[in-house]
Amino acid sequence: MTVPSITLNNGVEIPQLGFGVFQITPEDTAEATLTALEIGYRHIDTAQMYGNERQVGEALAKSGISRDEVFITTKLNNSFHDYDAALAETDRSLERLGVDAVDLYLIHWPMPGVGDFVQTWKALEKVYADGKARAIGVSNFQAAHLERLFAETDVVPAVNQIEVHPYLTQAPLRAFDAQHQIATEAWSPIAQGDVLDDPVLERIAAEVGRSTAQVTLRWHIQRGDIVFPKSVTRSRVEENFALFDFELSAEQIAAIDALNKDKRRGPDPDTFNWVP
Ligand SMILES: NC(=O)c1ccc[n+]([C@@H]2O[C@H](COP(=O)([O-])OP(=O)(O)OC[C@H]3O[C@@H](n4cnc5c(N)ncnc54)[C@H](OP(=O)(O)O)[C@@H]3O)[C@@H](O)[C@H]2O)c1
Repeated sequence: MTVPSITLNNGVEIPQLGFGVFQITPEDTAEATLTALEIGYRHIDTAQMYGNERQVGEALAKSGISRDEVFITTKLNNSFHDYDAALAETDRSLERLGVDAVDLYLIHWPMPGVGDFVQTWKALEKVYADGKARAIGVSNFQAAHLERLFAETDVVPAVNQIEVHPYLTQAPLRAFDAQHQIATEAWSPIAQGDVLDDPVLERIAAEVGRSTAQVTLRWHIQRGDIVFPKSVTRSRVEENFALFDFELSAEQIAAIDALNKDKRRGPDPDTFNWVP
């Protein structure tokens, strides 16, 4: 099964489907990541905050798959919103992951109450210029946060990783990203399971002979977003990878779009200022 790639605004190619490791304990991460790599995933989404970069690196080394075949994303933690701290923590991430460079490096949350994300972004620009990240981007940025980066810095983020699923379809922010050549990555793509017994998704799942998780993930793929569902259950990791031998109709896509109720699983980026 071939996973399509999306070309980012600097020419770097990212597999549209990956494997997320949020809330996988360090003890379980190496095995879960190895399972995903065995099944065929070639894109892993981790973060300093998840505390499992070292185990992702171990799985990568153990897999025997060459470094350039696996796309690795990590994210700068919320406590490092400072130019020098961001640079120092980047080197620690590379050491933990056991790589010379990551494929994508994100600011995890804008945190305007913690530090100035514009200074943090300037640190990521240096990381990029130094070749320690093949692409840089942001996560949980609203349009106003992005506008500040456009006005005050040089590099346009390659991606914006935001919460997106059928109950939070994010139409305006996805359109804003697209207008600025920023790829949208959809986190919690199945709303951590919250959407899976939705009657509309169940109806469509029966029509196409797939699970509601597969229908939801396929909806993301056909909208053009990048996804990386998380699971520690091998059969689900396999199920979530089997998305490229069926299609949803325009009517089915529209019916899922209409499920939006602006319901978040995670915090609101406009008010979230968690200080560790
Ligand atoms: N940037 C950010 O702020 C941010 C925030 C949250 C997440 N993320 C990223 O997005 C990734 C995915 O989001 P997420 O982990 O929050 O949620 P998710 O992928 O939407 O859902 C994961 C949950 O759904 C279950 N599940 C997975 N596949 C399933 C299937 N086929 N059928 C039934 N249940 C299934 C998993 O259970 P089991 O594991 O028990 O099988 C787990 O409880 C994260 O791992 C992380 O990489 C980023």
